[in-house]
Amino acid sequence: MSLFFALLACHTIEKIGADTAPAADMCGGEIYVPRAGYDTEAAVPADPHAATFGAAPEPFHAHLSWADDPSTTLAVLWRTDADTLATQVEYGIDTSYGGTANGASFFVGADGTNGRVHEAHLCDLTPGTTYHYRVGGEGHWSADKTFTTAPPPGTAAPFRFAISGDSRDNQETWGLILDAMETHAPDFYLFSGDAVDLGVNMTEWDAWFEAGEGHLDQRPILLAHGNHEFQVQNYYALIAQPGNEQWFSLDYADAHFVVLNDTVASAGDKELQAAWMETDLAATDAKWKFALHHMPAYSSCTTHGSNTDLQTLWSPIEEAGGVVVDFAGHNHNYERSYPLRDGAQTTAELGTTYVVAAGAGANLYGNDLSNPFTEVAEISHHYVIVDVADGTLTLTAYDLAGNVLDTFTTTR
Ligand SMILES: [Fe+2]
Repeated sequence: MSLFFALLACHTIEKIGADTAPAADMCGGEIYVPRAGYDTEAAVPADPHAATFGAAPEPFHAHLSWADDPSTTLAVLWRTDADTLATQVEYGIDTSYGGTANGASFFVGADGTNGRVHEAHLCDLTPGTTYHYRVGGEGHWSADKTFTTAPPPGTAAPFRFAISGDSRDNQETWGLILDAMETHAPDFYLFSGDAVDLGVNMTEWDAWFEAGEGHLDQRPILLAHGNHEFQVQNYYALIAQPGNEQWFSLDYADAHFVVLNDTVASAGDKELQAAWMETDLAATDAKWKFALHHMPAYSSCTTHGSNTDLQTLWSPIEEAGGVVVDFAGHNHNYERSYPLRDGAQTTAELGTTYVVAAGAGANLYGNDLSNPFTEVAEISHHYVIVDVADGTLTLTAYDLAGNVLDTFTTTR
């Protein structure tokens, strides 16, 4: 048995509330609790256990993401000790809150050794609005925090997001990347995979989320599954995303984001995603279309290089479907391709630009620029900021010292 499938097989997760029926009123996407493999099962207890606390009930590692429409819903997750079952979020436009959401909780791993994950969904939120919130339960609330909902889908409101990836075994640098991204006040984050070195190792996830305190609890993050996540249950337990949490899409203002998984558990899943993406892209009239996954189709990196399977399988669909930028990680450097169509250079308006953002901490790799597609490559820990406003996209890559590594602009 390979390491990959060994990891896949040995990590399952149990759910709290297995003795209760799923709540009929759950909103904002289902709460999926991975079981064996990635055979998921909805696990939403009808009883919110609002008054059940263990010996260490104080919430930690709160973080935000989306399992449904970013303009009206939000997924909130946090951790406690294993015996705390209360899973509540209070939220409102000021610190008097007024709204309460009950969620579900479950173990990280096969028992309570690593404590419990809590997940609650806020729904019927007002687009483009800043809310206050706190998590936990009566007597054991977190500090007050804030988040801002997305503009309504299809509207031309300006927005900004930050991209990074491959923190792997260097969470100290990941913390510095988060601090640096914070200076740009992005509306949300994209992460291109390989958050940790070994997905089965909870101490690495603890360090990743510890670095995220003060960041991931006020700005939602979308993640792509990386090969170092190994399809383990920790990944699916600790994040909330739409659908199967591997490949899905969502809209933010006049942008459409397609997230894909290129480290799949079942043969044929990449082909399945290709067919799904073709239909998905054809169904949206969003002005800006982005793709996010882990392994770059086009890369000058001397360690992994290009993923030619994805060049064949996904790139033609992205390019024909109008994806403006494909973001990936895996190859530990910064790279931007020329705008490409079928492997040939074209204009930024007509092609897809392939960006590698894989500098959030992992050891850096080299580049071989003897290819026809790389326009910019930098060997540096870095992050990328994307601004969309008034029909113009501006992409800027920064190193940790704040130096600009690259800028790229296109219009739609
Ligand atoms: Fe990777």
